[in-house]
Amino acid sequence: MSNLENLNVFGKKESVIEGWYWALKSNELKKGKIKHLRFIGKDLALYRGEDGKARAIDAHCPHMGAHLAEGKVEGNGVRCFFHHWRFNEEGNLDDIPCRKKVGMQVKQNTYPVEERYGLIWIWTGSEAKRDLPYVPELKDQEYDSTIGRPYIKECHPNIMMINAIDAHHFYSVHHLPVKLNLVPNEIDSNTIQFNNKTNVPTTNILTRFIGRFYSKELTYSMCYFNASTGTVTIGPDFLHFHIMFAIRPNEEGKAEGQTVLVTKKRKGILGYITNKVLLFATQIVGNYFAHGDTEVFKTIKFNFKHPIAEDLPIIKFIQHAEKQQLCDWGFGVVKEEALNIEPQNGPFLAVRKKNVTLTTKEDLNEKAH
Ligand code: FES
Ligand SMILES: [Fe+2]
Repeated sequence: MSNLENLNVFGKKESVIEGWYWALKSNELKKGKIKHLRFIGKDLALYRGEDGKARAIDAHCPHMGAHLAEGKVEGNGVRCFFHHWRFNEEGNLDDIPCRKKVGMQVKQNTYPVEERYGLIWIWTGSEAKRDLPYVPELKDQEYDSTIGRPYIKECHPNIMMINAIDAHHFYSVHHLPVKLNLVPNEIDSNTIQFNNKTNVPTTNILTRFIGRFYSKELTYSMCYFNASTGTVTIGPDFLHFHIMFAIRPNEEGKAEGQTVLVTKKRKGILGYITNKVLLFATQIVGNYFAHGDTEVFKTIKFNFKHPIAEDLPIIKFIQHAEKQQLCDWGFGVVKEEALNIEPQNGPFLAVRKKNVTLTTKEDLNEKAH
């Protein structure tokens, strides 16, 4: 077991796990429009091209640094406001209006962008290595979805995320009458699911009533993607609710969340109405979860000094988070360290090495001369 008091990734503001993070609601970015986006330590210009596809490009123009979101969308590329340089959808400079020929090769970084569940997601790197977060039960099915309210929690996304598998607090805070046994199942190296394996007990009238709706165990499952976004599935056998908590870290290390409600597609006008009602009901459940333990997250200083057997799912989740690959996005701390510290073993390795090559002492000396 890794040392739970000496973590490199879990809950660390300076460690950003590589992956997809939600950026904006899809309907907040209209075709042909461009927006400023401060996103996980990066300044980006997020725009929707004429083909309807959302794209992300490093914000500051390689000519003189103007923010590209001050400019405008042209075709599927962007034109800078200042001297009208144009960058195509791959970020390649392809027009300088005051010149006949561009005469040089300049490439501005662009990043993978996808949309799902009414959200725009950005991959924290140049090439996406995985698919977007999903609802496991509906992975290959059609679905309807709606978006809840965005929110900010005053703690790191990883810490907020453990709440959903903190079975221990379900009894103490939420008075859940059923003991959960959340068993981890690593779907792949970046995806871990916790499934409840206990049946509803038949000890009193309430639990006997609840038990009628479950042929086997009580449905409660939580699936995490790069330890940052999670989908919970709850509800009786005939009706499962799916709530996705899409979370990203901000500059202060706080969690910026967006709740998404998902249900399987139902056909016809009746199906349409049913889904509207269901998604509304799911939203109420989602708000309860999202609002839940707000006060404790304002003041918690996460320090897992005395884990007990009942905390096992949380321990498994922390171990899973510690194994995740970091990216060199984030809030600058790792980059500064890279100037003075030799790369170390462990999860920081890739990031530190990468940054050392990006900003070596030699580079800086060269710039100084
Ligand atoms: S700063 Fe963008 S074209 Fe000059
Ligand atoms: Fe809670």
